[in-house]
Amino acid sequence: MHSIRTLAFNQRLSELEVLEIDNPSCTAKIALQGAQILQFQPKQSAQPLLWLSSANSGKRGKALRGGIPLCFPWFGSHPQGLQPAHGFARNQLWTLQEVSYDAEQATHHVDFTLQDSPATRQIWAHAFRLKLRISCGQTLNLYLQVENTGQKAFDFSFAWHSYFQVKQIQHTKIQGLQQAEFMDQLNHHQRDVEDQAVTFQQETDRIYPKALGHYRIEQADAQTISIRAPECDSVVVWNPWQAKSERLGDIVAGDWQRFVCVEVGQIAPQQVRLAAGAASYYQLQIAHV
Ligand code: BG6
Repeated sequence: MHSIRTLAFNQRLSELEVLEIDNPSCTAKIALQGAQILQFQPKQSAQPLLWLSSANSGKRGKALRGGIPLCFPWFGSHPQGLQPAHGFARNQLWTLQEVSYDAEQATHHVDFTLQDSPATRQIWAHAFRLKLRISCGQTLNLYLQVENTGQKAFDFSFAWHSYFQVKQIQHTKIQGLQQAEFMDQLNHHQRDVEDQAVTFQQETDRIYPKALGHYRIEQADAQTISIRAPECDSVVVWNPWQAKSERLGDIVAGDWQRFVCVEVGQIAPQQVRLAAGAASYYQLQIAHV
């Protein structure tokens, strides 16, 4: 048996539509706003892979905290500080093109597009098309194509801002970043080199512009999470800790201990220049191992 149905984001606020997937491999939820996967749990796993805040308002146009928002066409603050952080793709309503089911692989494929509109051109004056496929099977696979549909080259950066659910951030380690250079967002982007696995004792916000594309989240008493993004040069590791999570206002008390963000993409100075008519392609695979 496999099923897919549309429901409201929550009972209280029904401004956002969500697709709910159930097949022999997994259960998943995807919001049409942002084409954002919110929940994913393989049937073989004892816990969900992704964390979703229970304090989201579900208001249209407001980014949902949790799951995997897509930051595009820039990562972090706007270069001139005039526009929303992390770009506009996570706040836009994407077009759902197709949902298909591969019975042999017990996998649903959900295809979305987002292209420039008068609203996006006011924020970013470029013609583009994004195609995003979300494949929900025993693993979660995301495929992104960025296309320049205009007459002039543009630069973009992006990140899959994944929130992974962990039992306790203080007992969580990120492997795969030893020897990688990072910029510390909490210390004027000062550069340093990671000499061991990343562990967490305080707020952490590091951009690794060029890393290897394969990371593991290890925990004392929970399944390891594997993250593979072979085409993505960059990764960000973030946990807000207590004080910042209180300032953010959409995380319930104490819940900052239950997630870590490991965000793969292309981040300055590894932003991408796309010529007129050109396209670039990225994938992300997430699994419990
Ligand atoms: C991370 C950044 O990617 O996103 C942090 O490195 C930022 O600096 C965090 O605070 C959350 O951003 P937002 O816009 O979703 O609150």
